[in-house]
Amino acid sequence: MANVVVVGSQWGDEGKGKIVDWLSERADVVVRFQGGHNAGHTLVVDGKVYKLSLLPSGIVRQGKLSIIGNGVVFDPHAFVAESAKLKAQGVTVSPECLKIAENTALILSLHRELDGFREDAASNSGTKIGTTRRGIGPAYEDKVGRRAVRVMDLADLDTLPLKVDRLLTHHNALRRGLGHPEVSHEAIMQELISVADEILPYMDRVWKILDDKRRAGARILFEGAQGTLLDIDHGTYPFVTSSNTVAGQASPGAGIGPDSIGYVLGITKAYTTRVGEGPFPTEQDNEVGEFLGTKGHEFGTVTGRKRRCGWFDAVLVRQAVAVNGINGIALTKLDVLDGLDEIKVCTGYRLDGVLIDYLPASQGAQARVEPVYETLEGWKGTTKGARSWNDLPAQAVKYVRHIEELIGAPVALLSTSPERDDTILVTDPFQD
Ligand code: IMP
Repeated sequence: MANVVVVGSQWGDEGKGKIVDWLSERADVVVRFQGGHNAGHTLVVDGKVYKLSLLPSGIVRQGKLSIIGNGVVFDPHAFVAESAKLKAQGVTVSPECLKIAENTALILSLHRELDGFREDAASNSGTKIGTTRRGIGPAYEDKVGRRAVRVMDLADLDTLPLKVDRLLTHHNALRRGLGHPEVSHEAIMQELISVADEILPYMDRVWKILDDKRRAGARILFEGAQGTLLDIDHGTYPFVTSSNTVAGQASPGAGIGPDSIGYVLGITKAYTTRVGEGPFPTEQDNEVGEFLGTKGHEFGTVTGRKRRCGWFDAVLVRQAVAVNGINGIALTKLDVLDGLDEIKVCTGYRLDGVLIDYLPASQGAQARVEPVYETLEGWKGTTKGARSWNDLPAQAVKYVRHIEELIGAPVALLSTSPERDDTILVTDPFQD
């Protein structure tokens, strides 16, 4: 039996919510290990729709332990709001079923503001990232800059003022430079004190809980957010998020050894999408993109922005398989391709006239690569709701098999609609 890490193998929005929910039913513990409330996971359980941004997907299921690991940046206001919404839907959110690592860095209002100030300023100069404006980047900067306020600091009111001072020395200098008013010490202290009682009951030594669970043979699911191409090191820098989104991050982001990670499942959409700015070699800014976007309902869960759409890019996913150590993929949204006469798949790039089989690291080269396509025959029948390979049109099976070959990883799960039972199981990641 393996623990399982789920990661996105493209630019996020691969349909992780459904797969994570499917897996979390089989897990004992569900752990978030990076990102924050920039993620958007939609779960449909017994006909009820739950929208999660910060909380692990296990929260909507009774009897699971949900964990927010130290690799997450944690917005206490978002937590309070999301918990209240879930409670109103009948979900139990309590310190018995949810633990937050004591060493998790906080996102405060000044982080959210800074994210917005920078994006606004960059809009005028054409250099914006297109962030979710949730303060993710500024919060990670403070963590690495060793001036973050962490969850445990809320319990120590003697040292908290000093920590706030250090944070404000940095932020007020930035705010002055960007032409915005300073924040007062009192305002931040008040912000922290006002949420402390809501957060502290959940605080715990997560590394110890995970160690105990692991020794007791519990099944642990590590729930990644965003996608490999948004990874701070391996993504399309600087058009990335500010955390490592790859599978290896589950270890430091939760406090568990790398040998406990087990099976790596890469969630992979049957075509490609991205939100925000940045290179996208197979983007179809035409009727094909419109078709995919409309049929696939490609609008951001968090920001509502229209997602950019394009053909499947096997170069990117092959690279994601390598950097994550993906053992198998969950292929999603195959049904969106139903009805197309032909389907293109990118198998390589041409960079300055030379054929290459990888995404180059430099921003300039990433913007210059031209996709090299193979064209496959589409299918007339539907794949929607298929629950076995026999239910799929022959050309659809051919498409899936060809993708497996191109990316060098097998399909473990095939999702054919948003309904949880519309899934073809090839390999159970927990049993692998
Ligand atoms: P940030 O994470 O808010 O700093 O945004 C940085 C980049 O990551 C932007 O292009 C966002 O659109 C993208 N991003 C962040 N979270 C997600 C996600 O959950 N799905 C897809 N894209 C995301």
